[in-house]
Amino acid sequence: MAFQMSKLAARVSLSKSVGFIPSAGNRCPSHLNFISRLAHRSFHALCTAGRGSATIKVLPSPGLLRKADRWEKVSTASKSLHRQSGWAVKPNRTTRVVVSVIGVSAAVLASLSTSTLHAMNARPDLNLDSESSDWKEAKKKLCSMDKEKRREVYRVDFIPLEKIPVWSPSGVSSREPRYKVNEELNKKISLFTGDITKLEIDAIANAANKTLLGGGGVDGAIHRGAGPLLRRECATLNGCETGEAKITGAYGLPAKYVIHTVGPIVHDSVGEREEQALRNCYYNCLHTATKNHLRTVAFPCISTGVYGYPPDQAVEVALRTVREYLEQNHEKLDRVIFCVFLKSDKELYETMLPAYFPRGSAPKSKL
Ligand code: APR
Repeated sequence: MAFQMSKLAARVSLSKSVGFIPSAGNRCPSHLNFISRLAHRSFHALCTAGRGSATIKVLPSPGLLRKADRWEKVSTASKSLHRQSGWAVKPNRTTRVVVSVIGVSAAVLASLSTSTLHAMNARPDLNLDSESSDWKEAKKKLCSMDKEKRREVYRVDFIPLEKIPVWSPSGVSSREPRYKVNEELNKKISLFTGDITKLEIDAIANAANKTLLGGGGVDGAIHRGAGPLLRRECATLNGCETGEAKITGAYGLPAKYVIHTVGPIVHDSVGEREEQALRNCYYNCLHTATKNHLRTVAFPCISTGVYGYPPDQAVEVALRTVREYLEQNHEKLDRVIFCVFLKSDKELYETMLPAYFPRGSAPKSKL
């Protein structure tokens, strides 16, 4: 009975998958070709074994079948091989069970749609959308994947580093240079206008709040893009003090890590305390990155949104802190990206960058 059922199942699935066995001239995706052939061969083996004829055919190897460039050739090759080869064995109960299991599993495989097969084949077994997934397991798996594999699980579009140009001044700067020209450092700076969650780099800095459990602005965008596991990991960090930095995985984001920092809140005016706290944010994010051997980092304009730090003052703190960190640690970093979201911030950075990373005729310094 079991044998009859498996034969029927194989026939049903094979007929369902008949679409994968193209008529003359159609090309069948090679992996489907192979699976359909496997189903065909197993079904054939089932039938012959089922008829009690003591013949189970040795069939052409997938490699041979894959070389054929159209189904007819393949079926011709398999027919000719059917004629030439073949060894007789008395099909006992075990043989029948084995053949029927192969037949059914091959037929089931053949009935899978190509997209399912692609999805099964390509997508690593990671569920970054579910609260209940194990964040440690997911983080470990993501760290072990190469870029191609990781790109299968990004939850947002991505911009590769090679698409983020090194900053070059768009005209003559009116600002007096505050530092000497240092082309080595200038090659490490980018100004990017857009969404920081799309950057496919080692780490993006997050302008978080002390709970580290998400919020609005860039914090909200990062948590939305990363998915629920980011919050799960953040919840284990016991928050973050102003000016401090803490690192987590990035989960569904193209970046490998997120470095969370909490900027100062400015109520009336910026005092020494607020300025030092903002400097600490940039310094501690860079230090956390180099401590973890990360070489490409992007910053949003920390504290200049909800936290009310005047952008024209924040830009000077950001550029000075990054310049001075690079002077001391240039060999540890390949790129620091200032990621601006607002046109006004873009204009501020374009005006101020030449003062902190001068080019050309200003006095040169050696690294
Ligand atoms: N990519 C890059 N920059 C962004 C993005 C984004 N997707 N979204 C917003 N920004 C910019 C804003 O335009 C602003 O210039 O980030 C900068 C920082 O603004 P906020 O996100 O408001 O951060 P901050 O001012 O530091 O306030 C932090 O806001 O979102 C909450 O939870 C957060 O409580 C915390 C507070």
